[in-house]
Amino acid sequence: MASLLFPVSAIIICMLLVFLSVSETAASSKYDTIALPQYNLPTATFSVTDFGAAGDGKRYDTSHIQAAVDACADAGGGRVRFPPGDYLTATIFLRSGVVLEIEKGARVLGGARLGDYPLESWRWYVVLAENATDVGITGGGVIDGQGMKFVQQINDRKNIMVSWNTTGACYGDECRPRLVGFLGCQNVRVWNIRLMEPAYWCLHIVRCQKTSIHDVSIYGDFDTPNNDGIDIEDSNNTVITRCHIDTGDDAICPKTYTGPIYNLTATNCWIRTKSSAIKLGSASSFAFKNLLFDNITIVDSHRGIGFQIRDGGNVSGITFSNIKISTRYYDPSWWGRAEPIYVTSCPRDSNAAEGSISDVLFVNISAVSENGIFLSGSKQGLLSNLKFINVNVTYRRWTDFPAGLVDYRPGCQGLVNHSMAGIMMEHIDGLVIENMNMRWFENEYKHWDNPLDLRPSTVHNISLFNFQLDRYQQ
Ligand SMILES: *[C@@H]1O[C@H](CO)[C@@H](O)[C@H](O)[C@H]1NC(C)=O
Ligand SMILES: *[C@@H]1O[C@H](CO)[C@@H](O)[C@H](O)[C@H]1NC(C)=O
Ligand SMILES: *[C@@H]1O[C@H](CO)[C@@H](O)[C@H](O)[C@H]1NC(C)=O
Ligand SMILES: *[C@@H]1O[C@H](CO)[C@@H](O)[C@H](O)[C@H]1NC(C)=O
Ligand SMILES: *[C@@H]1O[C@H](CO)[C@@H](O)[C@H](O)[C@H]1NC(C)=O
Ligand SMILES: *[C@@H]1O[C@H](CO)[C@@H](O)[C@H](O)[C@H]1NC(C)=O
Ligand SMILES: *[C@@H]1O[C@H](CO)[C@@H](O)[C@H](O)[C@H]1NC(C)=O
Ligand SMILES: *[C@@H]1O[C@H](CO)[C@@H](O)[C@H](O)[C@H]1NC(C)=O
Ligand SMILES: *[C@@H]1O[C@H](CO)[C@@H](O)[C@H](O)[C@H]1NC(C)=O
Ligand SMILES: *[C@@H]1O[C@H](CO)[C@@H](O)[C@H](O)[C@H]1NC(C)=O
Repeated sequence: MASLLFPVSAIIICMLLVFLSVSETAASSKYDTIALPQYNLPTATFSVTDFGAAGDGKRYDTSHIQAAVDACADAGGGRVRFPPGDYLTATIFLRSGVVLEIEKGARVLGGARLGDYPLESWRWYVVLAENATDVGITGGGVIDGQGMKFVQQINDRKNIMVSWNTTGACYGDECRPRLVGFLGCQNVRVWNIRLMEPAYWCLHIVRCQKTSIHDVSIYGDFDTPNNDGIDIEDSNNTVITRCHIDTGDDAICPKTYTGPIYNLTATNCWIRTKSSAIKLGSASSFAFKNLLFDNITIVDSHRGIGFQIRDGGNVSGITFSNIKISTRYYDPSWWGRAEPIYVTSCPRDSNAAEGSISDVLFVNISAVSENGIFLSGSKQGLLSNLKFINVNVTYRRWTDFPAGLVDYRPGCQGLVNHSMAGIMMEHIDGLVIENMNMRWFENEYKHWDNPLDLRPSTVHNISLFNFQLDRYQQ
């Protein structure tokens, strides 16, 4: 490994290249998994076909479905059942106490006309619950946003999408309906359902309290921008487990716009995405606190674990455990540069505040990736107390996309040409790495400049214990 030189001039670095057997004390039990909320499936049943729904996929069933939901809610709650069939619909408004039971063989198809959605663009969903309690969706069937009908031009780099921006309801190129939204709800449960082809974000949880999402399968077109999997916004006590997410844009994405996020766990999931598999931000005006991600497999994604903190919110108490990652380059029009782990805080623009990121633990992580780990705080938004324990990263190139760019998007410095490093570090105070294997595939060194890259003036108190560099051997 003579070609891999450490920038050892950094005095502050305490680099202990010894083979300690390190006990795994940081695997704390304070992040106990939040139990799934108790929730009994109501027995009263209202079938949409009894209310006149045709289920032929051609006629709009909106009023019949809504009549069934309203009758169910007025009767004190229950299930609204969709027998096998295709139910084309405009926005369905869920009400308290109602669980949609979309049976196996049934598909709820979101309309593709602007008039199918409410006037205000923030209420554009195929299924929408506002300020409701005890609501859910289940049944083994499908909700399909017919996202391909919103593709103006297919492009395997990135599709060009329709944007309903001429109406003044919203601006820019992201004016399309989301699939399922719970806004200001309590006791939300989404389980045993397939969410397909959203035109925009897929499952959106906003200002909710107690949400469980389990055994959900999400599929979005790989080349469609903004078709995020699960966006958790300004919500507390959310549990995501046993989900399968295969999509173009970010898969599990906590954000803070109007309030903080406390207590989110995501476990036992499989993810593939052309963006970040797990992404905190980039909307980040408030705190992110006490988040746990465990037993997650991330496959062929553009970025594995990402923090894009841009708006001054502070992030702390975040654990990633037992995560397998493979990342690769895709077209640079998508954010991400094949980083298995990407932790950044910087001001989105000159008016934005800088948030700090602290107490973050990565334990039992193994990654194969085309690019290195990127850890970058900013002057007023330091990264502190980061721990990496039992981490194996194997570097291997298998696409032809050019390397040597670091990605600060959105905002900040944008894309910057930079030498390649196993771990790049900026603006950090306190980083411990214990039991790390950093390995390079044979004959692949030529792409790489340094295992570790840091400017001592911005990086303090770094400790490495049992840090091994080697070539990868099968
Ligand atoms: C990490 O992996 C080790 C060995 O498989 C296991 O004993 C330990 O419980 C894991 N730690 C966490 C936090 O899951
Ligand atoms: C939901 O609650 C919020 C906050 O109280 C309120 O502003 C909004 O109008 C409510 N929405 C509906 C549809 O009741
Ligand atoms: C409207 O959306 C189109 C298509 O995405 C985009 O090219 C255009 O810039 C948008 N126009 C405005 C005024 O936002
Ligand atoms: C989440 O908890 C925080 C801290 O208690 C609180 O400020 C916030 O309003 C809560 N959010 C919701 C949606 O209940
Ligand atoms: C977060 O979870 C902890 C532990 O279960 C609980 O004590 C706390 O009240 C929760 N926070 C919020 C804002 O609900
Ligand atoms: C991890 O998640 C997978 C599903 O992705 C599941 O099959 C497996 O049992 C989980 N492992 C543990 C230890 O829970
Ligand atoms: C983040 O922490 C800093 C330093 O404690 C504090 O000044 C700032 O108000 C916090 N930001 C938010 C959005 O709470
Ligand atoms: C890392 O690799 C070592 C040696 O190949 C192996 O013993 C260890 O289990 C691996 N750890 C993880 C988290 O994959
Ligand atoms: C990176 O460097 C290349 C070659 O020098 C140049 O063409 C390209 O514009 C640079 N990209 C950025 C983002 O600076
Ligand atoms: C260095 O970091 C370690 C662990 O993050 C912490 O315990 C210690 O107090 C820090 N030392 C200094 C001098 O800041």
